[in-house]
Amino acid sequence: MNGEPRGMRAAAPGGALRPAVPSEGAAALPAPPRIEPAGIIANRALASGIRWIDLALPGDWGPPLPGQYVSLALDPPLRETEPGCCGSGLARRPFSVSGFERAGAHARLALLYAPVGRVTRRLAEARPGESIDLLGPLGTAFPLAPEAAEPFLLVGGGRGIAPLLFAAAELARAKRAFEIFHGTRTAAEAPPAERIPGPPVHRSTDDGSLGLRGSVLDLLAQAAPRTGTILACGPHGMLAALAAWAEERGLPCWVSIEENFGCGLGTCGGCAVPAADPPGGYLWACRDGAVLPAQALDWGRWGAPAAPLEPGCGGEA
Ligand SMILES: Cc1cc2nc3c(=O)[nH]c(=O)nc-3n(C[C@H](O)[C@H](O)[C@H](O)COP(=O)(O)OP(=O)(O)OC[C@H]3O[C@@H](n4cnc5c(N)ncnc54)[C@H](O)[C@@H]3O)c2cc1C
Ligand code: FES
Repeated sequence: MNGEPRGMRAAAPGGALRPAVPSEGAAALPAPPRIEPAGIIANRALASGIRWIDLALPGDWGPPLPGQYVSLALDPPLRETEPGCCGSGLARRPFSVSGFERAGAHARLALLYAPVGRVTRRLAEARPGESIDLLGPLGTAFPLAPEAAEPFLLVGGGRGIAPLLFAAAELARAKRAFEIFHGTRTAAEAPPAERIPGPPVHRSTDDGSLGLRGSVLDLLAQAAPRTGTILACGPHGMLAALAAWAEERGLPCWVSIEENFGCGLGTCGGCAVPAADPPGGYLWACRDGAVLPAQALDWGRWGAPAAPLEPGCGGEA
């Protein structure tokens, strides 16, 4: 790694977990993170390769802000066994919050996830009544402050729609102007329209089976917004192209980075992403993000998604 990650902050006394600093312009301060057992209420398929899980938490947990994430460990815990930066640690995995509401003495948290590896495939097999160890809310939030330019342009690629669903619900509740653009490979991978809050979602698919044939950036370019604030989440290549597109048009753009995490606690540097300032520096996505302004990142130097550091660090199966 070249240079110390920018924005590095001293560990909290006693190593206690601290809330991350909210994104500039965020409407509210984040709630302090807590570890809680989360009871599974429902866990079902939403689309091809995409699942939805509803979790019950204590009524005083959170609230999370749109863009924040939680870190899950299964119960009984799966442990990383390989040596390395996070070997023999508890296998936690980060997931963006897709929905949250308080209901009496309880809170209900929703996550949209893709079963891709060890933890997520086991998560897909978990049944209502079982429990998951949940840490959160964590990370920075999308800037939904009143002064942010409207409409909000929510741009998601594949399962990157996850944090945008929560942002959409909050924007709808606050009667803010927004539009959603979602791209998937095929129609089968697109969540049903009724699960997406707000106005009708603009869709694109690689194979043309739903909406515009092409990428979500083609979809956004077709809409040709002249003003607004872009909130985005998706694959690295999509975010890099979107960042350049937004910069050309002078549109503010915020991205949620879903790179592989190691510790997820701001200690190992396994989530380092190239920073624009200082040149050659790095941001740590788990602590400085996961939501960051697109111009804070050096997309040119960040040519390809960070490869997993070592087996067992949230990377290779
Ligand atoms: C801040 C943040 C928020 C996230 N939010 C969501 C979400 O809302 N929904 C969701 O489905 N996923 C989300 N992810 C990704 C999710 O954390 C990973 O898919 C998960 O860690 C995989 O764990 P696993 O044990 O199942 O896979 P592993 O066994 O660890 O890995 C299996 C395969 O998946 C690949 N992989 C693992 N993690 C990632 C990743 N982050 N990106 C790309 N490839 C990966 C590995 O390279 C490997 O090929 C988020 C990630 C971050 C950092
Ligand atoms: S510092 Fe360890 S994952 Fe971010």
